Amino acid sequence: MRRPFVAGNWKMNGTRAEASRLVDDITSTLSMASHTEVAVCPPFILIPLVAEKLAAGGALALGAQNLSSEAAGAFTGEVSGLMLRDYGCQYVIVGHSERRSLYGEGDDTVARKFAAALEHGLTPILCVGETLAERDADETENVVARQLQAVLERNGVKAFANAVIAYEPVWAIGTGRTATPQQAQSVHAFIRGRLAHADRVVADGLRILYGGSVKGANAAELFREPDIDGGLIGGASLNAVEFVTICQAAAGSEGSK
Ligand code: 13P
Repeated sequence: MRRPFVAGNWKMNGTRAEASRLVDDITSTLSMASHTEVAVCPPFILIPLVAEKLAAGGALALGAQNLSSEAAGAFTGEVSGLMLRDYGCQYVIVGHSERRSLYGEGDDTVARKFAAALEHGLTPILCVGETLAERDADETENVVARQLQAVLERNGVKAFANAVIAYEPVWAIGTGRTATPQQAQSVHAFIRGRLAHADRVVADGLRILYGGSVKGANAAELFREPDIDGGLIGGASLNAVEFVTICQAAAGSEGSK
């Protein structure tokens, strides 16, 4: 049985006051009775503040948006998994399409970051997904397979027992153009199938999130699909009402996968 999971990727947004209010608003309305796991991934500099608020108790887990592939040393401007763990992070997003396209992170770097996360006791949320040009060229499965293969080769399939995958088609991120439930389900099933070739038990237990313009209004129909285990939420995670509605949609799918 896979436990639904919703993670909010705040991206580069939020002052301390805004972050504080957002966490308060989410935690005060999120149902503790739900079996759905919910995490927030603030920018690095807001992690201490959010960690302190969450230490007081609550239903939220803490994640980061990126990490260095190194543990410590002369890497100016970087933040390591060791440091994130020290602040109580449980999750870290690895290979987000914005890291890949804007900061030149290739498959090998992503695979090394995935390894660094596991090494420091963090659960990587590995992002994969195709651009619009790649989808139009019918390359979606090849691109996703290549992105997965790099991580599999370096880390082995058993590493996915402690990981989460997020399928985020680049054309759906921040565009308001969500993948249809059928489009997303088809890629999620493909991902699970690839991993099942290597290890069926790991593949069956792996949570695969969908990300890309998820909102309160479209979350339930996405999460109803058999291989969609929750969402990685960008814009809508900055609005407590929207985010909690998405979490409730995930809770509505509990026990069905
Ligand atoms: P949006 O939900 O804003 O489309 O962003 C998705 C995303 O990139 C989450 O990591």
